[in-house]
Amino acid sequence: MRMSDVLRQLRQQRTTADARPRLMERYAAFLPVNGDTPNITLGEGYTPLVHARNLGRMIGAPLLHLKVEGMNPTGSFKDRGMVVAVAKAMEEGARAIICASTGNTAASAAAYGAAVGVEVVVVIPEGQIAAGKLMQAQAAGARVVAVTGNFDAALSAVRELVDGTDAAGGLTATLVNSVNPYRIEGQKTAAFEVCEDLGGAPDYLAIPVGNAGNITAYWRGFSEYLDAGLVETRPRMLGFQAAGAAPLVSGHAVEHPDTVATAIKIGQPASGEQALRARDESGGVIEAVTDEEILGAYRDLARYEGIFCEPASAASFAGVRKMAAAGRLDPGATIVCVLTGHGLKDPDAAQRLASPPHLAGPSATELRAALGW
Ligand code: F0G
Repeated sequence: MRMSDVLRQLRQQRTTADARPRLMERYAAFLPVNGDTPNITLGEGYTPLVHARNLGRMIGAPLLHLKVEGMNPTGSFKDRGMVVAVAKAMEEGARAIICASTGNTAASAAAYGAAVGVEVVVVIPEGQIAAGKLMQAQAAGARVVAVTGNFDAALSAVRELVDGTDAAGGLTATLVNSVNPYRIEGQKTAAFEVCEDLGGAPDYLAIPVGNAGNITAYWRGFSEYLDAGLVETRPRMLGFQAAGAAPLVSGHAVEHPDTVATAIKIGQPASGEQALRARDESGGVIEAVTDEEILGAYRDLARYEGIFCEPASAASFAGVRKMAAAGRLDPGATIVCVLTGHGLKDPDAAQRLASPPHLAGPSATELRAALGW
């Protein structure tokens, strides 16, 4: 083959890679977008659905799959909803966007805000968000406000601020938490992708639940594909909260939520009602998993599947493992666990479980000695 042909071929391959479909474009028929909506993208969506053969075998559920949402541009599922929310905010003439966050929403808002050149304000519970997420927001130039309270207090303050400004006629900032309907619209596309990859809906969809936007979004996505005649069934939704922050399990708000999974350290989920509806309509459950079960799942997802997610994400697999052990899942069922965020977000959590490196001098002999070979 001539050199120029090789180059042309390589270029063609690159063009194909560059032509990664834009989330808002590909799913335009299902999204509230129109000709005036800016067609922005950072490459969100199209995340891998990985067949977890090792863990599946270990828990007796061979058709276990993982939806790896940490592969989104800012490392979490939030980007799917944020791209739509920010595009709509721009379409509607917003000059700033604001959110309360346990970290991932903040990182995502900061990135998309930077991309469109709008001011971003993120309000976080002081000292309670993972280091990587805070750094992402700071790196993208967001204004970060840390409040002395938990996420629920931060969200309540931000909502009051936005409503108050709105009422005074001085709309300054668009709220981009998942109470913003465009966030849910964008996030539902993950359910579409799961159906496309499996050739139909799974039997079970397991997902961590915090503020309850994501479970609401997935259920909507599955329902819309059913209504469109693209799938014939919908999954049972299995939502998992951390035991110390499980208001939807106990049936009442948790005043002082507490869990190692800081992303879902939420005592009063804004979309709680919709989550319960998704549970009931799907014949599913919302249950609690302990921090110990979350950390065990977190460790094993990395060790046995090579997928490093953040602790909150592992709640989905922790819950599925627990249900499988209790014989509550059909072994022939297709199960999808959503892994919502990347492990690199929370280096402190990883470090607490890691053993220190072996020390050795820089020679083969010393390496051999250190390894005991
Ligand atoms: N997993 C991760 C990694 C999250 O960051 C969140 C929520 C959830 C699960 C729960 O999703 O709230 O839709 O039920 N993080 C929000 C934030 C609250 O501010 O980043 P949910």
